[in-house]
Amino acid sequence: MPGNSMHALRYDRYGGGVAGLKHVEVPVPVPKKGEVLVKVEAITLNPVDWKIQKGMLRPILPFRFPHIPGNLWLPGSDISGEVVEVGPGVKKVKPGDKVVGMVNHFTGGGLAEYAVFKEFITVKRPAEISAAEAAGLLVAGLTAHQALSQAGIKLDGTGERKNILITAGSGGVGHYAVQLAKLANVHVTATCGARNMELVKSLGADEVIDYKSPAGAALESPSGRQYDAVIHCATGIPWSTFEPNLTQKGRVIDITPSASAMFTSAMKQLTCSKKKLVPLLLIPKARNLEYLLNLVKEGKLKTLIDSRHPLSRAEDAWAEIMDGHATGKIIVEP
Ligand SMILES: NC(=O)c1ccc[n+]([C@@H]2O[C@H](COP(=O)([O-])OP(=O)(O)OC[C@H]3O[C@@H](n4cnc5c(N)ncnc54)[C@H](OP(=O)(O)O)[C@@H]3O)[C@@H](O)[C@H]2O)c1
Repeated sequence: MPGNSMHALRYDRYGGGVAGLKHVEVPVPVPKKGEVLVKVEAITLNPVDWKIQKGMLRPILPFRFPHIPGNLWLPGSDISGEVVEVGPGVKKVKPGDKVVGMVNHFTGGGLAEYAVFKEFITVKRPAEISAAEAAGLLVAGLTAHQALSQAGIKLDGTGERKNILITAGSGGVGHYAVQLAKLANVHVTATCGARNMELVKSLGADEVIDYKSPAGAALESPSGRQYDAVIHCATGIPWSTFEPNLTQKGRVIDITPSASAMFTSAMKQLTCSKKKLVPLLLIPKARNLEYLLNLVKEGKLKTLIDSRHPLSRAEDAWAEIMDGHATGKIIVEP
């Protein structure tokens, strides 16, 4: 059983970046009805963690401070650990089980020795999968899964062979999307930095473009293909760049939709355009997480680990995720 207090990282106001983070001792959270308390073994960071701290979701997510980061709006953040206590009504897991899950954004933070999360998004972790590998699958893996599904791709490979583009194929979401798309028997073109082109090819991309090259900036397929779908994991690319590269009914699944992307999306709907821009908001589902864990167990999907940091130096991980140049996932370990 845990003691009464634990080490955590916290911030007390919006803004401040790495300098705004503080190491603190706080009470260990207590699981309520339908919740599990987990001794954290690995946490992965996502860009949304620093975006929340910056205040980018302020209109929709008013936090009570002080706040332990790792909390997200809706999805929650990514944790692997061992169940140490369960709240009333929990049936799926018991103390001693190794699990992965997401913290509830109202109750507890991820960057801590213990965390509480809801049973509905708690899944047992097979013994063959490390805590770090499993944690990466949460926000990033589930987003890749959802984006491909929203693009009309059958992940079991039984659909028609489509031609897709994945931007930022080296990132947290992108590296899973490339692998899942390949398993789905899709022709994959991916963009990434020059340093990662061989790596992204090894994940299964058929064609890789350096995003800083002229062809990369124009998103032009080296073999002249048009895309049935784009899984857009990078940012800052306008609709006018996508549009000429899409097939007649091509769609862009935008996982970081800007205000102008939302406007374009609405206009495409209003005008009944065949080409569409679809904003994505992750809806985490345990069955999709189980699907991804199974692929990892079978050796068909892997988590690329960019770097690992102890909780005592979690601010280094924070600086890295803010920098936006991770190859795969950044891990923090208590
Ligand atoms: N809607 C949702 O629910 C949801 C869920 C998850 C993530 N997201 C959002 O999705 C975005 C991606 O997340 P992530 O975790 O994958 O980010 P990430 O891991 O931080 O992405 C970093 C990677 O992107 C590459 N990159 C940066 N700019 C690029 C460009 N213009 N073209 C190609 N590659 C580029 C970088 O390569 P270099 O180092 O070579 O520059 C790096 O490898 C973020 O904005 C995040 O907030 C949204």
